[in-house]
Amino acid sequence: MSETRIGGIAAARIAAFAAEEAKVYAAARPRTRAALEAGAEPWLAGVPMHWMRDWPQPFPMLVAAAKGALIEDLDGHRIDDFCLGDTGSMFGHSPAPVARAIRAQAGAGLTYMLPTEAALQAGQLLSDVFGPMRWQMATTATDANRFALRVARAVTGRPKVLVFDGCYHGTVDDAMVCLEGGKTVSRPGLVGQVEDLSRVAVAVPFNDLAAVEQALAAGDVAAILTEPVMTNSCMVLPAPGFHDGLRDLATRYGAVLILDETHTISSGLGGYTRVHGLKPDIFVVGKCVAGGVPTAVWGLTPDLADRFAAYDATRPSGHSGMGTTLSANPLQFAALVATLSQVMTPANYARMEAGAARLCAGLSKAVSRRKLPWHVVRVGARVEFICAPGPLRNGFDAARAHAPALEAALHIGLLNRGCLIAPFHNMMLISPATTRAQIDRLIAASDAVTAQLLET
Ligand SMILES: Cc1ncc(COP(=O)(O)O)c(C=O)c1O
Repeated sequence: MSETRIGGIAAARIAAFAAEEAKVYAAARPRTRAALEAGAEPWLAGVPMHWMRDWPQPFPMLVAAAKGALIEDLDGHRIDDFCLGDTGSMFGHSPAPVARAIRAQAGAGLTYMLPTEAALQAGQLLSDVFGPMRWQMATTATDANRFALRVARAVTGRPKVLVFDGCYHGTVDDAMVCLEGGKTVSRPGLVGQVEDLSRVAVAVPFNDLAAVEQALAAGDVAAILTEPVMTNSCMVLPAPGFHDGLRDLATRYGAVLILDETHTISSGLGGYTRVHGLKPDIFVVGKCVAGGVPTAVWGLTPDLADRFAAYDATRPSGHSGMGTTLSANPLQFAALVATLSQVMTPANYARMEAGAARLCAGLSKAVSRRKLPWHVVRVGARVEFICAPGPLRNGFDAARAHAPALEAALHIGLLNRGCLIAPFHNMMLISPATTRAQIDRLIAASDAVTAQLLET
């Protein structure tokens, strides 16, 4: 009987390797284990945020400190961090200009519901870096997307958002749909969702302009919400002409084009939009935009801003459904100005790009030397190895390429060899602080782990 293989590796070997590595992880962390046993109980399911259980190790790592591209755990292990808070710290942990800005603001008030001079500076910097938009602040990219959708629905008077099957835009309810047998349905795992989300959303496959046009032709789509590259599944790159086609279709059918650059800000200065000359109506970015201080921004083109102002003048007064109390606080502005002016620089992006190219080349070489049916993709500073052949065209391909058991084994194997990568897929980020030595260690560690997995 032939044995089951996942991504070219025997399933039984993956399970045995993962079990061995879990023991190694646990044996190396007596202090962490004791601290969790003594103190985790007050948290629901033992962690302050439920997805902290989604890492592959048998119990969470407790972080003692992090700086640049290094993270240190409670047991004193110094680990090369390629997860970087899943992009929140893409420019490194506590970049010096951001840490200084936080210190300076710390004694001058943390939230006022009023702007500061730094807010004015931040607005100008946002337009300089991302293009001449009319900006608003939020605290999370989830919220920024929610508010962008409100504007799109308000100005078009239409109910639906078009998203791509397999997308993720934060915990925006309206985008939590997928395709099942060609039909848009609510995602099955949603907690406490009582709405039929297909009333407010339509899902189509990424890279399929004919499907986009068919959905838009129904006349009820207010907005297309997409990442320039699908990064939250196994990474899917846009086919040549896809973004031009999307822009044309959005214009032709009167839908607002929202580009969510929260992850593709890895592409280079100004994000994928600027690097590739895209033309969104609304631009959204969060996570690392203020160097790790919870901040997101969303900007409207001047044209759309005028349309929104006209709508706003006609609506009854009262709650708009947009905004949260702690958003646009002075700490965010201080961190935003520091990041935009001193961290998100062409020189830092050049370092990130060079490091990511090195990582991509090193991993690709190892994959082909070992004749694995895998591929490696890169979007600027973001690199991902995918345990299936590529390229992937859409969310369906991406879901099929996902190999959770193999990925979990690789992740814990890498962690035990001093390298942390993102938990949900095989994503790695290069910060300006990441050294060549760290990159080479990751290449060597991933080759060592795959060599062990291939042992019979
Ligand atoms: C593309 C994209 N948009 C939005 C979000 C939501 O960000 P947050 O969780 O900070 O709200 C994410 C999170 O992973 C994301 O990847």
